[in-house]
Amino acid sequence: MAAKLERNDKVLVLTSGGDAPGMNSALRGAARVGAELGLELVGVEDGYVGLLAERFVPLDMRHLDDASRRGGTVLGTARSRIFPTPEGQQKAKEILAKSNVSALLVIGGNGSLTGAKTLEGTETGKGPLRVAGLPASIDNDLGGTSMAIGVDTAMNTIVEACDRICDTATAHRRIFLVEVMGRDCGYLAMTAGIAAGADTVIVRETDRSDAEVVDQVCRTIERAYAEGEKRRRVLILKAEGVHIGTNELKAKVDERLARTVADVDSRVTVLGHVVRGGTPSAFDRLLAARLANAALRGLADGASGFMAGWVGPGITREACPYDPYVVLVPLEEMLAETDKLHRGESALAMWRKRVYREVESILER
Ligand code: F6P
Repeated sequence: MAAKLERNDKVLVLTSGGDAPGMNSALRGAARVGAELGLELVGVEDGYVGLLAERFVPLDMRHLDDASRRGGTVLGTARSRIFPTPEGQQKAKEILAKSNVSALLVIGGNGSLTGAKTLEGTETGKGPLRVAGLPASIDNDLGGTSMAIGVDTAMNTIVEACDRICDTATAHRRIFLVEVMGRDCGYLAMTAGIAAGADTVIVRETDRSDAEVVDQVCRTIERAYAEGEKRRRVLILKAEGVHIGTNELKAKVDERLARTVADVDSRVTVLGHVVRGGTPSAFDRLLAARLANAALRGLADGASGFMAGWVGPGITREACPYDPYVVLVPLEEMLAETDKLHRGESALAMWRKRVYREVESILER
């Protein structure tokens, strides 16, 4: 453990990658806890893009009180193309080296926290740079945390959208294929699908071929509209990361249904970025504040190279001294775990895969 941070030590904070509702609450939490600990919190605009351009701004606590109720991120975010390159990282290190920054807090997903790890230990005017991360990604695709900031809000947004879709679907006796975000993980589709009362949910993790997915959807629809069934709507949720495209799936399903089910129409709704915006839920605000609190306290006590994660399924580490629901996971471990999660090889990934198949079967009743 490095020495404790001292009064007025400077901590840079940035939000990076895909925005997630609750990022502003994390900024507010960091600013307030930083003030409590006597640290100077400085924001970086537009993530690593702003770091490379030295766009630093004071974190205004009062402004953040209000922003914390809103989605997006007041600091701005970006997916920098330059920062991940060796030249980009070298430039970032040179900028930090001539600064008197003691620590960097990165709020973002997999790529953003990988970036944080590469900057750890850069010699600044205040010694080796300490880094910490907060998990923020609506996809819930990060190792080392049971929930990432933004997931709960996104899930609620999907459920609300599906409730609306079901009204019109029921009125028309229609089938709706609803595609939701989730590049590598079907968590959002699955959890929201269960909550929204979907008839089936299609996720990448169950390893179905395109033909099997078409069959799964057709069987669901054929069952719903079988003789004697009084069903008026079929709701199918599909994660973005599933190999077969949603429009292609609709075309194939329509082709088969033309022979098997009379007189029902299908429609596609791609919720896309709608799911990433919006007012953060109370849970996301609190999650963000508590993770920020633990991260700031960890940095202040001399820890570095960690992400503050939320206790829950898949998390076996002991809670940190600052919050019984928060663990401080080494970034290296968290990134390796994330990689395994994406490849379906972590304990959590395998558990999810088993449960997803069970849910598929339960929904088929
Ligand atoms: O933040 C994660 C995510 O929302 C993924 O689900 C999605 O594939 C991706 O971001 C979209 O990113 P962009 O906003 O850059 O198109």
